[in-house]
Amino acid sequence: MSDTACIQELRPRVNTYLEACCKRHSQAGASGLLGEAMQYCLLGGGKRIRPILVLACCRTAGGQTATPTSHNNDDPSALAAGAALEMIHTFSLIHDDLPAMDDDDLRRNRPTCHVKFKSDAVAILAGDALATLPYLLIHREIQDRTLAGTLVTELSEATMKMILGQVYDTEGAFPADVTEPAARLTLLHEHKTGALIRCACRMGALVAGADQDTLDALTRYGQAIGLMFQVVDDILDETQTTEQMGKPTHKDADRDKLTYPTVHGLDASHALVTDLEQQACTALNHLPASCDTNHLLALANYFASRTR
Ligand code: IPE
Ligand code: IPE
Ligand code: MG
Ligand code: MG
Ligand code: MG
Repeated sequence: MSDTACIQELRPRVNTYLEACCKRHSQAGASGLLGEAMQYCLLGGGKRIRPILVLACCRTAGGQTATPTSHNNDDPSALAAGAALEMIHTFSLIHDDLPAMDDDDLRRNRPTCHVKFKSDAVAILAGDALATLPYLLIHREIQDRTLAGTLVTELSEATMKMILGQVYDTEGAFPADVTEPAARLTLLHEHKTGALIRCACRMGALVAGADQDTLDALTRYGQAIGLMFQVVDDILDETQTTEQMGKPTHKDADRDKLTYPTVHGLDASHALVTDLEQQACTALNHLPASCDTNHLLALANYFASRTR
């Protein structure tokens, strides 16, 4: 599955912005060894789907965004919100790969942070820094104070959900009333991965100043693709090679992870992906007729059929 036109257009812009961010905010302590570790992880590849979703949802909700021919028309707030989210995502990956968690040595086709810097402490601290800098970034880059406050709330709530999902994943510490494997699995995936993706869609809508109906529709879209993203990640762990994914595969089953293929089987997992793509597309039908949904439809299809 090749990247969509929207991804091809937006990914370089996100990467350029992230590079500029690292330079601009290096005086906030993100220099020396800490800065090196943060930049190694943040700038070292990655599909950038979360900031791309912020920009695409902002565009769909009618916000100011760049067209392919007019790159100077970016909404700086959407770029800042997307960069903040990508930092949180990167922090989650650095910690996810630590020996105390998934104990992986390859990420985005390169050594993971603790392997590269031969230090768990450096990886823990680079993650801590990437969990903190986003709030400084939003505060400094988003001039509208009300919007900045709203985005801080969205991002911190979603991050708490992601962390709670990681607790479910690593410790199996589910709420006492959630006992069935299928129910636990949905709760797990909606938290550990779904929350940040849903947050991306909401932040894009909020930057655009969307009305409540538009925010609700994009939230439902984000909810569906967020769960779908982790179901696909589970499928790819079983079906793809390490070389293709740029991270170790065939490890979830060995570690007794709760995944869609282990609980429901591969065929049912594929069927659920199709169903969630449909749910995402249906959510977009509730947007005002003036909204151009083509990019979001293409992105939903890309997330459903991605092979890396
Ligand atoms: C990997 O996320 C971890 C999950 C939440 C499934 P991505 O597949 O978005 O990883 P990168 O950022 O492209 O490396
Ligand atoms: C990761 O889930 C979710 C995070 C919050 C990072 P996985 O552990 O399945 O992600 P990968 O497969 O290592 O990218
Ligand atoms: Mg994990
Ligand atoms: Mg992992
Ligand atoms: Mg995985």
